[in-house]
Amino acid sequence: MIRLFDRLARPLLHALDPEDAHGLAVKMLKFAPLPPAGRDDKRLATRVFGLNFPNPVGIAAGFDKNAEVPDALLRVGFGFVEVGTITPLPQAGNPRPRLFRLDADQGVINRLGFNSEGSDAVLKRLAARANAGGIVGINIGANKDAPDRIADYVRLIERFAAVANYVTVNISSPNTPGLRNMQQAAVLDDLLARVIDARERVAPNAGPTPVLLKIAPDLTLGDLDDVVGIARSRRVDGMIVGNTTVTRPANLRQPEKAKQAGGLSGRPLLALANRILAETYVRVEDVFPLIGAGGIDSGASALAKIRSGASLIQVYSGLVFRGIGLIADIKTALLATLERDRQSSLADYVGADAASVTAEPWPS
Ligand SMILES: Cc1cc2nc3c(=O)[nH]c(=O)nc-3n(C[C@H](O)[C@H](O)[C@H](O)COP(=O)(O)O)c2cc1C
Repeated sequence: MIRLFDRLARPLLHALDPEDAHGLAVKMLKFAPLPPAGRDDKRLATRVFGLNFPNPVGIAAGFDKNAEVPDALLRVGFGFVEVGTITPLPQAGNPRPRLFRLDADQGVINRLGFNSEGSDAVLKRLAARANAGGIVGINIGANKDAPDRIADYVRLIERFAAVANYVTVNISSPNTPGLRNMQQAAVLDDLLARVIDARERVAPNAGPTPVLLKIAPDLTLGDLDDVVGIARSRRVDGMIVGNTTVTRPANLRQPEKAKQAGGLSGRPLLALANRILAETYVRVEDVFPLIGAGGIDSGASALAKIRSGASLIQVYSGLVFRGIGLIADIKTALLATLERDRQSSLADYVGADAASVTAEPWPS
């Protein structure tokens, strides 16, 4: 049924402007009575950040920016959903067109710029489903014109901790000018100190809310040393590695289209994202777990992500080219690997290739 849905929906969606197609995909999830994916095999279950995930395959931030369809996404088989990025106040983002599909490369470029309905609207939706079950995290960002960006993150933690299973501090979107400068050591240290302090302050009412840091795959290794050091000393609960890249790999088939400004995601991001994930994994030394995102579009790339250091994985662009059936494809492939190796969980695969990935030539 899901495969039939994909086969019918994809040509239609790909005939539309990419942003219109995205809007229609969200509407389809909201209104089409898709069958539930069914219970996951127990061997896919995993406990991370003190939360029990039925399977390790999540949907990355940016698909459901305003928490319109988290329960539909859980229903079609995701193990967790990250809504957002949300900003405190509503904002329109950059002018259209701002979303581009690189079909020949199976990549996406976006410069949406945190288009968000704002925290009031999203809070209302998340509060209404707070007891629905399933793991729903929220990804938070600052308004473009905020006079004090750190204060925006603090305010959002305070407001959302009670209705989200985890909160992701996103300082890695390339489309809000200056945002990624918050990855610089002094700023990051101040940000994380205040964010963790806010989380502790609201914990008596909101409960324990894991705080994750989402980074760019474009950090230098020197920057990454600083970022991981600060994340460890400020005791974040995990990191997401990572966001889209502003770089353009040398071997793109559509280099002209790739000149569009914005962050590149999808298959052309896989090698770089895996490298930065592995580099992060060896620096974190198992102090906290990592979520791997960037370029997953198959069972093989999902397993490579886990072997590079991810305890959980997230997909977005792969869905554009493979449809919702990608979720089942990944789970089937992961289970086949467990069968083949006579293993009962994915734990032993996490980071198994991290050392060898970091020894490879830098991805070009
Ligand atoms: C259209 C689009 C919008 C995105 N919006 C966000 C966002 O709001 N916040 C965020 O942290 N990441 C955002 N991302 C990045 C994704 O969450 C993910 O980190 C990245 O796309 C790499 O995964 P992928 O190759 O599977 O797409 C967006 C990605 C795309 C393609």
